[in-house]
Amino acid sequence: MATIRFNDINASQVWARLHQHQRSTRHVHMRELFDADPGRFERFSLRLDGLLLDYSKNRITDRTLELLFELAEVADLKGQMDAMRGGERINVSENRAVLHTALRLPADASLLVDGVDVVPEVHATLARMAAFSGDVRAGDWRGHAGQKITDVVNLGIGGSDLGPLLACEALAPWHDGPRVHYVSNVDPAHLARTLEGLDAASTLFIVCSKSFTTPETLLNAHAARRWFLARAPEPALARHFVAVSTNTCAAGAFGIPPDNLFGFWDWVGGRYSLWSAVGLSLMLAVGEANFRELLAGAHAMDTHFFEAPFTRNMPVLMALIGVWYNTFYGAHTHAIMPYDHGLRRLPAHIQQLDMESNGKRVGRYGERLDFDTGPVIWGEEGVNSQHAFFQLLHQGTRLVPSDFIVPMQSRYDDAQHRVLVANAFAQTEALMRGKTVAEAMAELTGVSGEALDMLAPQKTFPGNQPSNTLALSALTPHTLGMLLALYEHKVFVQGAVWGLNSFDQWGVEYGKQLARAIAPELEQGVDVGEHDSSTHGLIGFYRETHAQ
Ligand code: F6P
Repeated sequence: MATIRFNDINASQVWARLHQHQRSTRHVHMRELFDADPGRFERFSLRLDGLLLDYSKNRITDRTLELLFELAEVADLKGQMDAMRGGERINVSENRAVLHTALRLPADASLLVDGVDVVPEVHATLARMAAFSGDVRAGDWRGHAGQKITDVVNLGIGGSDLGPLLACEALAPWHDGPRVHYVSNVDPAHLARTLEGLDAASTLFIVCSKSFTTPETLLNAHAARRWFLARAPEPALARHFVAVSTNTCAAGAFGIPPDNLFGFWDWVGGRYSLWSAVGLSLMLAVGEANFRELLAGAHAMDTHFFEAPFTRNMPVLMALIGVWYNTFYGAHTHAIMPYDHGLRRLPAHIQQLDMESNGKRVGRYGERLDFDTGPVIWGEEGVNSQHAFFQLLHQGTRLVPSDFIVPMQSRYDDAQHRVLVANAFAQTEALMRGKTVAEAMAELTGVSGEALDMLAPQKTFPGNQPSNTLALSALTPHTLGMLLALYEHKVFVQGAVWGLNSFDQWGVEYGKQLARAIAPELEQGVDVGEHDSSTHGLIGFYRETHAQ
């Protein structure tokens, strides 16, 4: 089979065959597929360590998967996976390798990037993080006046916030270090409210910014510094401010001494950086051993991803099924529903991971893509989501594929947790099965005539709404690592199939550029540059409210 590269994937025969297959199968109901095949769950589910992926409640048949695997082959998915794993510069618009997987390699592995083995550097940084967090946790690193550090404030945004924040909340039962707070928003309320009640003498700030140029983070870092200096002498800064960045110069200029700087590398994308020194806040909270378990879980998923055949490969299956809905069904969104309070920020993390990676309209060589790419990712923790937007999933008019993430065990009340799990399972069943008119009518005992005609359709559910269930034996540092790496690879596979560069984010950069221009214009008396009438009007209204 000829391998087609880049944007002409949609000119391939298999692309056309997938469209044809979608047209001829779109009326098939998943109920029929389950009724016809008692072994459907066995065939369409996969286990890896403590993780079970049930993808049987999808609008797929063996033929669908066959075609999707062929699509992956035509897109040279394997070649692209090997290129990433081997450290090739697959982030072409920034001329960078993409090696978050190297952050999870064991110490005895080796990986050459431009002739340099990066694994020793990765482990040297991990060792520095471990020594520092060990000292802080043990009280050997103290505040300037001798107090033990009780609170850590991570100042970062996007990938320098979402991953560590999510992981910190997910691993709350493992916290035995200082309290950790995350401040991301440039809204001054975020920092101010976080600092309320904190004691400068026992607070440690981590300025976490890969570039060390992100205005939101730098403004918060300067504000935090002012707050601190209002309560402590300048030399005390060195005991209370550390930084995580690839930009050593800018961190130095801010006043971070070299010993307080934890570096990483340009081959780690922001949204893939939890595993680097960006995870320092997490390590401070849960300790080195748990952080290493997280890495080990992610590495287990990496090994699976790089080595399992596509037919038994979790990220590949999830990604291709996503492509099926997104590109061939025209589904615009994908919902993420974690049935675990600790995972409540997972939708936000996956949102950045997926939408910043695959929200692209041109291929990796700048060619326009004539098909839909990354979906809108959204979601909310279960069961709260059921009482918010599930009505639309059950009886609305849209196709909304979703993922249910459900740990089987809880560290809290088991009986109550059982209700949570039952709700998750019930939702996927209801979404898949629906309820026919006949079933609805049968339940409406004692109702007849016009009342029955009116009520029955309203109590009917079309079903056929697809979902994956990711069941975790329990949420642990290891399974969390697996889960997050699984989504990273899923996103990679989809980008690879669509032929785009999942590792840049020029759209976000553009927004930053415009905000930089507008910020000074909000001040009274400053000339306002060229804008549309709406933006002019809004700037005017801001100035008006500040006029007196
Ligand atoms: O949101 C855009 C982005 O560039 C992300 O990719 C990144 O995670 C975030 O900003 C923060 O960037 P930095 O870590 O450089 O401050």
